[in-house]
Amino acid sequence: MTEADLIVLDQVNKRYGEHHVLRDVNLNVRQGEVVVIIGPSGAGKSTLCRAINRLETIDSGTITLDGTPLPAEGKALAKLRAEVGMVFQSFNLFAHKTVLDNVVLGQVHVLKRPKAEAVRKAQELLDRVGIGGQAAKFPAQLSGGQQQRVAIARALAMDPKAILFDEPTSALDPEMVNEVLDVMTSLAREGMTMVVVTHEMGFARRAADRVVFMAEGEIVEQNTPDAFFGAPNSERAQSFLAKILTH
Ligand SMILES: Nc1ncnc2c1ncn2[C@@H]1O[C@H](COP(=O)(O)OP(=O)(O)OP(=O)(O)O)[C@@H](O)[C@H]1O
Ligand SMILES: [Mg+2]
Repeated sequence: MTEADLIVLDQVNKRYGEHHVLRDVNLNVRQGEVVVIIGPSGAGKSTLCRAINRLETIDSGTITLDGTPLPAEGKALAKLRAEVGMVFQSFNLFAHKTVLDNVVLGQVHVLKRPKAEAVRKAQELLDRVGIGGQAAKFPAQLSGGQQQRVAIARALAMDPKAILFDEPTSALDPEMVNEVLDVMTSLAREGMTMVVVTHEMGFARRAADRVVFMAEGEIVEQNTPDAFFGAPNSERAQSFLAKILTH
C-alpha cells in the first residue's frame, strides 16, 4: 500500500453458505482514481461494493479506508459510511421527503451541520447536477434520471472521500442514461475517487482510469480502458465483451 491508496482490499473472502462469492480479492484504489468494475451477473460486483461500505460483512481479509481498517460497528461505522457515498440502481430516496430534504437530512443528522448551511449546500449541489428547480418536489414527481441525480447530490452532500456506484443507470429509460453519466463524468474529471459497477462501456472508456473485470468472485484481470477493451487477456473477458458489445 502507498500513501495515495484510499481504498485497499487485501485477500478479501466472502461466502454465502456454500457459495464463495468473493475469492481472495485484492484491490487498491488510489486517491482520485476512477475504477470501473465489469463482469457477468453473479460475479460479486455488488457484494464487493457493499463490503467496501460495510453493508456486508466479510469472512476474511481486510478492507482499509484512507489508512484505517473498517470498524465493525457503532459510531465509527456510521462515520465511515458517511465518508464513502453509495449510489444504487434503485435510487433509495426518501419518498415522503422533498428533493431538498433528501439532500439536507444526512448533513444535519450525521454531520451535525447547521440547517441553514445544509440547505445552502443542498441547493448548490442540486444546481450542480442540473435539477435546482426541482428542490421542492417529491421524488415520485421526478423522472428516473432526475431521481438518480438527487441521489448523487445526496452522496456529495456528505463530502465523501469516495463514491461507490452500483449500476446507477441500469433502471433508467435509455434517454435518461446520458444525463446521469454526464454528471458522473464531470465528477470523475474533478478528481472524485469513484468505484463504478456499470455495463456502460462508453462511460468506462471515457472516464475510467482502470477497468477491473470480475467473474465468479475473482478479479480476473485489470487494465487501462484502452488496453482492456483493445485486447483483453483472459478468455472469460473476451467472451464477456463479445456478448455485451454485440447488443
Ligand atoms: N444476501 C445473499 N444471500 C445469498 N446469496 C447472495 C446474497 N447476495 C448475493 N448473493 C449471491 O452472491 C453472488 C454474487 O452476487 P452479486 O449481487 O454480488 O453479483 P453481481 O456481480 O452484482 O451481479 P449482477 O450483475 O447481477 O448485479 C450471486 O451468486 C448471488 O446470488
Ligand atoms: Mg449487482
